[in-house]
Amino acid sequence: MTVTLDPSNTRTLPLDGAYIRNNFPIFRNRSSKNPFTYLDSAATSQTPQQVVDAVETYYNHYNANVHRSIYAAGEEATEAYESARDKVSNFIGADDSHAIVFTRGATEAINLVAYAWGRNNLREGDEILLTEMEHHSNLVPWQLAARQTGAKLKFIPFSEDGTLENSEASFTEKTKIVSVIHQSNVFGTINPVNEIINLAKSVGAVTLIDAAQSVPHLHMDMTSLDCDFLAFSGHKMLGPTGVGVLCGRTELLEQMEPFLAGGEMIRTVSLETSTWNDVPWKFEAGTPNIAQAIGLGAAVDYLSGIGMETIHRHEAALIKYTLERLEGMDEVTVYGNPPERGGVVVFNVEGVHPHDLSQLLDRDGVAIRAGHHCAQPIMEKLGVSATARASFYLYNDFEDVNRLTEAITSSLKFIT
Ligand SMILES: Cc1ncc(COP(=O)(O)O)c(C=O)c1O
Repeated sequence: MTVTLDPSNTRTLPLDGAYIRNNFPIFRNRSSKNPFTYLDSAATSQTPQQVVDAVETYYNHYNANVHRSIYAAGEEATEAYESARDKVSNFIGADDSHAIVFTRGATEAINLVAYAWGRNNLREGDEILLTEMEHHSNLVPWQLAARQTGAKLKFIPFSEDGTLENSEASFTEKTKIVSVIHQSNVFGTINPVNEIINLAKSVGAVTLIDAAQSVPHLHMDMTSLDCDFLAFSGHKMLGPTGVGVLCGRTELLEQMEPFLAGGEMIRTVSLETSTWNDVPWKFEAGTPNIAQAIGLGAAVDYLSGIGMETIHRHEAALIKYTLERLEGMDEVTVYGNPPERGGVVVFNVEGVHPHDLSQLLDRDGVAIRAGHHCAQPIMEKLGVSATARASFYLYNDFEDVNRLTEAITSSLKFIT
């Protein structure tokens, strides 16, 4: 890959953002007076032409249902759908593609475990261990599971710098499941999940890693991570919306009852009772998200072609530069300062509500997120109702950071 220099020519980026943006039609289509400066990839990433093409090819050339159509188009669809499963499995280093369940997203993947595993394995007095920095998707499903089973919720706290506090004492013989966010969608913190998984194992607890913000940005290897469940979303890693993944330990998936029921997840059905299909299809009731899964397969090909280590280094350089620029602005408060972090930063600008800031920045073509980031307990602990958030991906470069800080400066001028 070629290299982009920052404006003062003092540092380099591993990837050439401008070159990469050429693969993403939206950057051509939306640029008008100002270039489209997209700094909201933690919410949803942009989609390269390769992914659009894969989805379009499915609809234009072999659109048919999977696993049931005994004609050429149906067989092609099944082959492409199952080949997407193999690609995803290889991408995260899973040892068996049958461990990959396609869901609607990370939210559905976590709900699947909280419901299908939780219902049969949690009892009154058991403990569900989470952290205080969970996305609502990895909090609310466990609140429901606790309510239904009588289990108790416990939380590993975070400190002011946005890192988790020493958590060893939180793991007890009552801990039955430990479900933890890998990379924070608020502070960008990359949590020490290996340590957490080892502590969970020492008390015999099952582990779930919410990898919605890590699989898109970090090299992931399920074999060395050795968690029981991993959940992530396609639309945050260049894929289409409406597809996500639950990667589960096969023995656990086999023991679990289904989450949703209907066609294709069964082996036999009589009027009174049914038996289940093998894993992973037992968890894919009804017609699955065929086009979306095929698109996710193409996204994984694209990311693998560039290399996850390179993408991570690219984002690390961008966030370092962004923090330097933001910290040099008197009116800006940045929240959290974790030493191990991805390309996400939350901040507020004195005298400007984040929603107003987002609107003002949009006039300059800069798209950021403003709100509670589906993490209201974090906002409460920070003592704010909302923050602004900028998040980066492989198509961003130093110019995007400069446009962000320049747009903040012009917003301040506009307000005062
Ligand atoms: C850390 C984290 N977990 C889970 C989710 C939920 O993902 P989805 O909305 O794609 O299901 C998100 C989405 O922002 C997230 O950032």
